[in-house]
Amino acid sequence: MKNIFITGGNRGIGKGLVEQFSKNHNVIFTARDTNQAQMIVDSLEHDNADYVIMDVGVNESVQNGVKNLKSKISSVDILINNAGILIPGLKHKISAIDTDLDSMMETFNINTIGVLRVCKALTPFMRTNSRIINISSGMGQLEGMGTGSLAYRLSKTALNAMTIVLSQELMEKKIKVNSICPGWVKTDMGGHDASLTIQESTENIMKFALDDNFPSGKFLRNGEVLPW
Ligand SMILES: NC(=O)c1ccc[n+]([C@@H]2O[C@H](COP(=O)([O-])OP(=O)(O)OC[C@H]3O[C@@H](n4cnc5c(N)ncnc54)[C@H](OP(=O)(O)O)[C@@H]3O)[C@@H](O)[C@H]2O)c1
Repeated sequence: MKNIFITGGNRGIGKGLVEQFSKNHNVIFTARDTNQAQMIVDSLEHDNADYVIMDVGVNESVQNGVKNLKSKISSVDILINNAGILIPGLKHKISAIDTDLDSMMETFNINTIGVLRVCKALTPFMRTNSRIINISSGMGQLEGMGTGSLAYRLSKTALNAMTIVLSQELMEKKIKVNSICPGWVKTDMGGHDASLTIQESTENIMKFALDDNFPSGKFLRNGEVLPW
């Protein structure tokens, strides 16, 4: 039984991951709202999930969340950096020139620096041979880069670059780090027209996360390596 820590576990892909992993593993997830988090814990069939309150955009909140986490489990085997935002939504494509600069800052603060905040607080607490999965997006892929949603795209491109850097710097501690794209998933962010259900996407992610042949420093979707 592994200890899995998932950010943004209260809805969407994160909640799906909590449901999948908690069938056979110990899961601690983050949420920003206690009532919402408790409702999820109560709704699960298995008694393997708990939560800490954390806003990945705020240093103190991440530090307090990790302190709380340490009081619940002795170490983390798999960290899944899932929490993320997309402003404005996919349906409101805005050109790069018209992009609001505050939304650039906010998106980077959550999608990129938020992941670094969590890694800074948590990696000293991770054992050798543990794993980090950064939930990125095909929208951050340089190859075939498209238009619109500049803030989101760049925040994920930067996250992918950070994955490479972290994978090399944490190699000494034998912590493996990868970015993955979960596919286009039916969530608040992905919308109703998305091609994958949360269950389909999260089953794939769990299979990858637990695979004996877990690579490092790669960008993948469905276990297949993607070009950066
Ligand atoms: N859905 C897709 O098609 C798709 C495709 C590619 C990549 N992704 C990536 O997959 C991940 C999950 O996406 P999703 O579709 O599940 O999105 P979602 O339904 O919008 O859920 C986002 C999650 O992130 C959390 N979050 C947002 N800001 C946060 C903050 N400051 N601190 C802590 N948690 C925060 C949310 O918590 P609150 O409820 O508190 O806001 C929520 O749990 C994201 O990184 C996204 O970029 C999604």
